Amino acid sequence: MTPLTQFFILPSLLIACSSSTFANPSKDQQHEHHHDFRHWEIASPDPDRIFLTFHGDAATRRAVTWRTDTQIHKAFLEIAPALAEPGFDRFAKRIPASTEVVDLGKTKGSNKSKVHYHSTIMTNLKPDTLYAYRVGDGKQRWSEWIQFKTAAQTAKPFSFIYFGDAQNDVHSRWSRVIRMAHQTAPQASFALHAGDLINKANSDTEWAGWFKAGSYLHSQWTGIPVVGNHEYISGGSAKESQRKMSMLWQPQFTLPISEGLSEDLHETVYTVEYQDVQIIVLNSMKNTKEQTKYMEQQLKKPGFNWRFLTFHYPIYSPRFRGKYTLPQTTRKEWQELITKYKVDCVFQGHDHAYLRGQVPMRSAPDKENNQLQTLYVVSVSGPKQGRPEPQHIEKYKSEGFKPIRVGANTQFFQVIEIDGDKMIYKAYTTTGKLYDSAVIKKNFQTGIKTIRQMIPDTEERTFKNTQNYSTDNLK
Ligand SMILES: [Fe+2]
Repeated sequence: MTPLTQFFILPSLLIACSSSTFANPSKDQQHEHHHDFRHWEIASPDPDRIFLTFHGDAATRRAVTWRTDTQIHKAFLEIAPALAEPGFDRFAKRIPASTEVVDLGKTKGSNKSKVHYHSTIMTNLKPDTLYAYRVGDGKQRWSEWIQFKTAAQTAKPFSFIYFGDAQNDVHSRWSRVIRMAHQTAPQASFALHAGDLINKANSDTEWAGWFKAGSYLHSQWTGIPVVGNHEYISGGSAKESQRKMSMLWQPQFTLPISEGLSEDLHETVYTVEYQDVQIIVLNSMKNTKEQTKYMEQQLKKPGFNWRFLTFHYPIYSPRFRGKYTLPQTTRKEWQELITKYKVDCVFQGHDHAYLRGQVPMRSAPDKENNQLQTLYVVSVSGPKQGRPEPQHIEKYKSEGFKPIRVGANTQFFQVIEIDGDKMIYKAYTTTGKLYDSAVIKKNFQTGIKTIRQMIPDTEERTFKNTQNYSTDNLK
């Protein structure tokens, strides 16, 4: 296709394309674009950025979101139970999608870089069943068929992945983390991203890198995205009441809207119920006080053997973060609820270092303190690395927090396995080496948990015993 034909058929592409694609770009075009776009950043009629999310009952429902250019006005999803024969799709069901226009140009003060985001919800799925789906225009422009499995209706062993901040240099240096996570736990049911997925909230280029790094994994693992300060304009530096979320968050992730919460929290505060596990996702950036009530409502819901929390700003940070922390009153309220309901584990991000610690059961009778109340983890999956501060960590001892394993200057991912009354926690480095591990055993009748530390016999990773990495480009 010649450039002229492209111009005629795909005006939106022309706007988004780099000056190098066209021989004689206008001055306006040269001015508007700060870099050469890669082909995978530019929307086309073919679906890209396909992302699978939870949306209500994990055994019977999922949501899917994807992107195209503005030529595609009507989009569809097709779904069928996955069979081994190639004709599995003969009786595929077709579901229409809703389409939303997003004007990327708005972030540059112009009005001309429109793309379409499409989304739809799959309902009435059978529990514990492998499905195949594809998305497209209903004619020629389809994605590949993508397989995923619904949750069972009762407890059954499963695993999931948890990532700390990807945030910087994502396309280049986070891709190996998510891919090694997949190699390590290929059967994982979902992946939790604990905030700061990118650095600049509205940078479509950075989001492009995040989607490209994860590629098809984003469409076959169900994702649990959590907002961090970098999903807010200027890294969340504004006052809580004035923070503005990324204009791309809601279009590109289709997430539950929790009843009774203010609009500012829609699609950032929600609960995933996966078999016998409850995962409460909170937004540590906005209306945090409002979420205390929501958290308690969720924790009061009966019927779960395991309860996890995830949010970006940690309760126990490996280093001092100044104003970039949870407001003190919120922190206290959340801590109290965690204690009251004996939340099993809290997955956090933000500090660009690794810290796993625990708060023992208050009335633990044994001196070993192996009776656990809550396990707290801060982790990092991207290349930006901060220095843990032992004196800062020490301060938390007065609150009953006991640090167990620290790590620095390393990209991590975690695999969590739930197997009946056992939770197996494992932290790996991006080279696939086990760095930290623990097994929690829980008596569901009494609620009493014991923890066995299974830390590999390897030295703590510090800035001293690892290679330096220039952070000049990560500011
Ligand atoms: Fe952060």
